[in-house]
Amino acid sequence: MTLRERYDAATAHLEPPFAIVDLDAFRANAAGLVRRARSKPIRVASKSVRCRTLLSQVLATEGFHGIMAFTLPEALWLASEGLSDDILVAYPTVDRRVLTELARDERAAATVTVMVDCVQHLDMIEDIAESAGGDRPIRVCIDIDAAWRPAGGRVRIGALRSPIRTADEAAALARDVARRPTLSLVGLMAYESQIAGVGDNPPGKPFFSRAVRFVQAQSRVELARRRAAIVKAVRAEADLEFVNGGGTGSVEKTAAEVSVTEVAAGSGLYQSVLFDHYTNFTGRPAALFALPVVRRPGPGVVTVLGGGYPASGVGDRSRLPQPFLPAGLRFDSKEGAGEVQTPLVGAAADELEIGDRVYFRHAKAGELCERFAELHLIDGDRLVDTVPTYRGEGKTFL
Ligand SMILES: Cc1ncc(COP(=O)(O)O)c(C=O)c1O
Repeated sequence: MTLRERYDAATAHLEPPFAIVDLDAFRANAAGLVRRARSKPIRVASKSVRCRTLLSQVLATEGFHGIMAFTLPEALWLASEGLSDDILVAYPTVDRRVLTELARDERAAATVTVMVDCVQHLDMIEDIAESAGGDRPIRVCIDIDAAWRPAGGRVRIGALRSPIRTADEAAALARDVARRPTLSLVGLMAYESQIAGVGDNPPGKPFFSRAVRFVQAQSRVELARRRAAIVKAVRAEADLEFVNGGGTGSVEKTAAEVSVTEVAAGSGLYQSVLFDHYTNFTGRPAALFALPVVRRPGPGVVTVLGGGYPASGVGDRSRLPQPFLPAGLRFDSKEGAGEVQTPLVGAAADELEIGDRVYFRHAKAGELCERFAELHLIDGDRLVDTVPTYRGEGKTFL
């Protein structure tokens, strides 16, 4: 049976649009990440999964520990549902209401860690914790800028995140946390997006690939040194429980750094399109959405319903979903992926009947779940379960 036949057989009773997760591929991808992490625990990035059932499955897999959440309301929800006793919110929070909730809830305060990178964050959290009068200090993690900045800092390669970059800056903020009894510094995080999130092997671009590999290698050396110095300086100020780094594209490299105690990863589970072209790993597409062929404008073209689910980020073609099955379909260059309908051209178009399905992959992993209320879980050629996405549970955090 081909992949497409398997998916068609398992979902024959469903009317598209719908989304599926191939559990075999999902589990193989999880096992691949664990192998690459070489016995350092993987904190699962929930933004790249956005489904409680699948997050639970991942957390039950040996090698995974803890959740990297994307908002504090999400973290409190996951904590109240008992998904994990170790949830790190990877981005700063300025939501005073939810911070107050965290401070008042002893169990949540023992489970959830919030991100800080400046004195204003500390002031705000301290103020809220003092007013809330909770019994436990708020757990905080310092975010470190992991970008590479050659040419004396005139060039920046990597995401614009934290202003904290040096060991001195990190140690000063750590000392500031230590002065505040309502806060407790438990972790450091440095996410090297320029390595973990940039494919070093894009097809048909040998020179660009070589340049990416060169830049990533330089950046890796610079960050490993700086990260080690930062960890040493901050450990002199606080008993850190964890030092988090990396992402799907960098798992083995980040895990190899002695100063790093755990890596983060999520996108590699669904293996979305943007993670296709890396030399160090190959995942199996595990999350797909199916759209129905609704008409045929002419020879060599069919039109499916919907399809315009671009991913966040720079709005270029790389953010579009990709027609996956049957192979041999592409977007019309003038229309792309449309709001309510999408023409698809290519050799496979003439073999499709009205009512057939076309399976697509999303460019980013978790954002698929903002378009669908349910994921149909497929094992072999059987649909074994249907589970809600975050959105399906009425949880649209961002
Ligand atoms: C802080 C942080 N760590 C890790 C990751 C990597 O996640 P993924 O493996 O889903 O790409 C991200 C993704 O943006 C992130 O923001």
